[in-house]
Amino acid sequence: MEHNFKMSFYTKELSAIRKKGLLRERKIYSEELIDLASNDYLGISHINEPFEYTVSQLRAYHQFSPKASMLVNGYHQVHRDFEEYLARVHMFQRAITVGSGFLANLGLIESLIRGGDELFMDSEYHASGVVATRILKKRQVHIFQHNSMKKLRELLQNSKAKRKIIAVEGIYSMSGDIVPKDVFDIADEFNAILIVDEAHSFGVLGDSLMGVFDYYNIQPQPNHIKMGTLGKAVGSYGAYILASDEIISFLENRAKPIIYSTAPSLFDTLLAHFSIEYIFESILHFGKDIAERRELFNRRLGLDKKGLIFPIQMGSSEEVIRARDRILRNGFLVGAIRPPTVERPMLRVIARRDISLIDFKRFLEFIPESI
Ligand SMILES: Cc1ncc(COP(=O)(O)O)c(C=O)c1O
Repeated sequence: MEHNFKMSFYTKELSAIRKKGLLRERKIYSEELIDLASNDYLGISHINEPFEYTVSQLRAYHQFSPKASMLVNGYHQVHRDFEEYLARVHMFQRAITVGSGFLANLGLIESLIRGGDELFMDSEYHASGVVATRILKKRQVHIFQHNSMKKLRELLQNSKAKRKIIAVEGIYSMSGDIVPKDVFDIADEFNAILIVDEAHSFGVLGDSLMGVFDYYNIQPQPNHIKMGTLGKAVGSYGAYILASDEIISFLENRAKPIIYSTAPSLFDTLLAHFSIEYIFESILHFGKDIAERRELFNRRLGLDKKGLIFPIQMGSSEEVIRARDRILRNGFLVGAIRPPTVERPMLRVIARRDISLIDFKRFLEFIPESI
């Protein structure tokens, strides 16, 4: 049978995207480049020990894939051990592993905001959370100005919601800003549930590198939910949610990305478990490396970031691509981030722990002093 389906709509939209200089394409970059673009903050994805240990331990199980959803028979001892470990070290009642951070945010927001509840989300919250808000009714969703605790408070004061749920990130993925400590007090004051996405703060922030709770010295409470990803500082793939017994049980019963998705990969879960143990064994050494890089970038760029994400604002999408390409020709890979991901085009530089200060100083020579 002949297909006469016309692709003209997509082609038109694609050419409009191309014209604006916003066309995205996947590329495989040379391993020779110095990587200042990835979220491998600690360089764990190049460290042998957790990987080798994972391979040897997984052999003992004689089962290498989860085979089903965790709510059928895909839940494995590997998941349980990891969850118990996470709950213990983070001092939460319980944990649940999830296939990815995207699924974790989708599951949290889709399931926890019931009829009559309202969500209060920072305007820089990750796309996975934003997509999930489309499942809710418009009147249930309030987006507050990035990091404005004043706006958040005003919205909460005016809300008549049955339950209030606040969603913030520990360190925001694009601006690299840290969430203000006040958000914890505000959540308590308004009896709200607080979701903290620690995708970019776990492994880089706090005396024990455990993220924003650690940095601000916050003891987890039943209204706190902490989400972490495994594909960034942990050097694996997947995610986890830490919360009270009640909330984890609720997610097991209502969060569709948990119920209707194959359980997280056994290899990746075990790798994450050993990588996190490795990170904790290396706190002093990693902490010192992080502090040196943070200080160098903040000083040179006139910023005050608490993590390892450094945004360098540019005037236009074309300018950001030109700058990225020039830097690339000199052997460094950085992210060129453009609308709609961010409002203003920017280079996103990750000051990875495993890259030498000498290389960073060489890199910074390509950034004009005026920035
Ligand atoms: C803040 C934030 N949350 C969630 C995610 C999604 O996590 P994952 O890559 O594990 O799907 C990301 C990025 O990937 C992120 O930057």
